[in-house]
Amino acid sequence: MTKVQNGGVNLDAFREVVESRRSVRKFTKTPIPDAVMADCLRLAMLAPNSSNLQPWEFYVIDSDAKRACAIKNCMNQNAAKTAARLIAVVARTDTWHDNAKRILNEYPINPPPKKVKDYYNKVVPLDFLRGPLSMMSLAKWGSTQAIRRFTPIKSPCYTFDDVKNWATNNTALAAQNLMLALRAHGFDSCPMGGFDEPAMKALLNLADDHHIVMMIAAGERADDGIYHDQFRLTSRQFVFHV
Ligand SMILES: Cc1cc2nc3c(=O)[nH]c(=O)nc-3n(C[C@H](O)[C@H](O)[C@H](O)COP(=O)(O)O)c2cc1C
Repeated sequence: MTKVQNGGVNLDAFREVVESRRSVRKFTKTPIPDAVMADCLRLAMLAPNSSNLQPWEFYVIDSDAKRACAIKNCMNQNAAKTAARLIAVVARTDTWHDNAKRILNEYPINPPPKKVKDYYNKVVPLDFLRGPLSMMSLAKWGSTQAIRRFTPIKSPCYTFDDVKNWATNNTALAAQNLMLALRAHGFDSCPMGGFDEPAMKALLNLADDHHIVMMIAAGERADDGIYHDQFRLTSRQFVFHV
């Protein structure tokens, strides 16, 4: 394949990272250096996220005792058992407010433009706040329905599940960045939804507003770490040009 350069971005290198990423179920004993892990996490947090509110957290399980329990909570999956690192990727439903304030404090333009201040001080709270007994949600629903009769309007969060979906969507993008970053560093990963979330939350001392989106096993791919060639169903089933 010819090398294609786009403004300094190497398409072939990107293709290689994406196409060589596999869910690896067996890792070698080679450790992932701290510096590599730190760079992968930094790249994870460069994922796009709505309003830059960054509702994610990453728990790298380094302690041997916690690791043994975490493996058990991943139902002793081989990927978890052999992983050099185990990471809990967590979505937070309660950090949007504090992060909105931090964004204004750390905004690259100082002081932030009025539009930006209004956005984080007024629009963002209106999107997320539900009020006592969700009374505010009811009012938000009524006004959104009314406005929608005249012009398109984004639905705000009405319920806790709406906020959870929002946080989960954003966090899953960061998880994918993390797995691609590991691949680019010559390591591999396995995303795992097969784990006991309440047990894992108890192990990591996580509260109600923490949601473990997935566990990621990471390490160096063993020769027999992949069970079959990668395949996908036909794109005709999934892609529509309308
Ligand atoms: C959210 C999510 C949860 C997953 N859970 C598991 C899991 O618990 N155990 C496992 O071995 N693989 C798990 N996988 C990996 C998928 O099985 C894998 O991505 C899929 O079969 C495609 O293979 P590939 O990643 O090698 O292309 C999960 C993947 C995702 C995205």
